[in-house]
Amino acid sequence: MAPIAVETPQQQAPVRGPIDYKEAFITGPKAFKRDIEEHGSENQAPASYPHYLPTWDPKVYPPLQPFEHYEHGKDADPTFPHLFANGTHRPLAPKIGSEVNGVQLSKLSDKGKDELALFIAQRKVAVFRDQDLADIPIQEALDFGGYFGRHHIHVSSGQPAGYPEVHLVHRGAEDTIARDYFTTRTNSITWHSDVTFEAQPPGTTFLYVLDGPEAGGDTIYASMTEAYNRLSPEFQKRLHGLKAIHSGFEQAENSRSRGGVVRREPIATEHPLVRTHPVTGEKALFVNAQFTRQIVGLKKEESDFLLKFLFNHIAMGADFQVRLKWEKGSVVVWDNRVAVHTAILDWDDGARRHLARITPQAERPYETPFEERK
Ligand SMILES: [Fe+2]
Repeated sequence: MAPIAVETPQQQAPVRGPIDYKEAFITGPKAFKRDIEEHGSENQAPASYPHYLPTWDPKVYPPLQPFEHYEHGKDADPTFPHLFANGTHRPLAPKIGSEVNGVQLSKLSDKGKDELALFIAQRKVAVFRDQDLADIPIQEALDFGGYFGRHHIHVSSGQPAGYPEVHLVHRGAEDTIARDYFTTRTNSITWHSDVTFEAQPPGTTFLYVLDGPEAGGDTIYASMTEAYNRLSPEFQKRLHGLKAIHSGFEQAENSRSRGGVVRREPIATEHPLVRTHPVTGEKALFVNAQFTRQIVGLKKEESDFLLKFLFNHIAMGADFQVRLKWEKGSVVVWDNRVAVHTAILDWDDGARRHLARITPQAERPYETPFEERK
C-alpha cells in the first residue's frame, strides 16, 4: 500500500493512511432482513417507521458539481428571538453541546432557521427533544433540511424507497454483528465528520431517531474548534497552510466488497488542515481518522506521525466532547464543519437501531491566516 503523491486529487487511486478505514457498523443489502424488520421477531417489535426501512437502489449518479453555498447563519439575529420564542436550551458541556426543549424544528420560520444555523455553529451540536421530523412526510422533512444547503446523496448507504437524499443508519433487529465485531476489535470508536472527501462537505446536518435500543447507541461529538484552541500557538502556526487528502475510496470499496452499491465514482480531495467557519470566524482542525489519509508535501512517516498525533488529540479530548443520548423524538443537529462524531456500538441484545440523516452540503473548506490569541 504505497502512498501516492496527489497532483489531481479527483482522479487518484486510494491513498491509505496510518489508520485504515474502519467500518464498525457493517450493514448493507446482504445483511438486511426485511421480514424481521417489517414483522418483528420473537423478541423485537416491527420497525416503528417501515417507510424509512433501507433500500439500495443501484442507480449511478454523475460526479458532484460545484455549487455556490448560501450560509444562512450569516443572516441570523444573534439573540435568537425566533428560534427560542417559546423553547429553552441549556449547555451540556462548556465547549460543545446543548439540549433544547420546546422548539419544533419543522415549524421554524426562515428567520428561525437562520438562527438555528448560527446557534449550531456556536454550540457545534445540539439535541432537540420531542420533534416531529420522523412523523411528517419524508418530502417535508427534506424540504425543511434543504433550506441549509444542497442535499447530499450518499455513495453507499441505504435510503428510504424514493428518497435518495435521506441517508439511513440502520442496524436490524436480531443483528449479532456487535458480538462478531469485537472478536477482532477492542472498540468501535470511529471519529469522523461526514463525507469529508467531498469537495464541499456538509455543514448544518440533521440526524433523527426512528428506533433505538433502550440503552446504548449514543453518539459522541467533539469540538474541532476547541481541539484547535488547545494547541500551542507555535503548533497552530505550523498547521496553517498545510493541506490533507481526504479519501472516499475505502468507503466505496468497503460497500462493493460486501455486495453493496456505489452510486458515484469515489474521489479524494485536498482540504486545509485548519478551516475557518464562515459565520463565527472560528478556526477548527479539519482532519479525521476515517477519511484523512495524508498531509500534502510531507513524507509518509512525517505525515503518519502528525496525523496520528492529531487523531489521538481528538480522541483523547473528553474535555471538549459531549455524549448525546437518543430518546424517541430526538433530533441531533450539528455543524459538520467544526465537529467530529463517533457512533458507539455497545449494545448486543438484538435491539434495532434506525436513524435518518439529512445532509446539506456547505462551502468548500477554506482557511484564514493564523492569529495571535488576545
Ligand atoms: Fe457520521
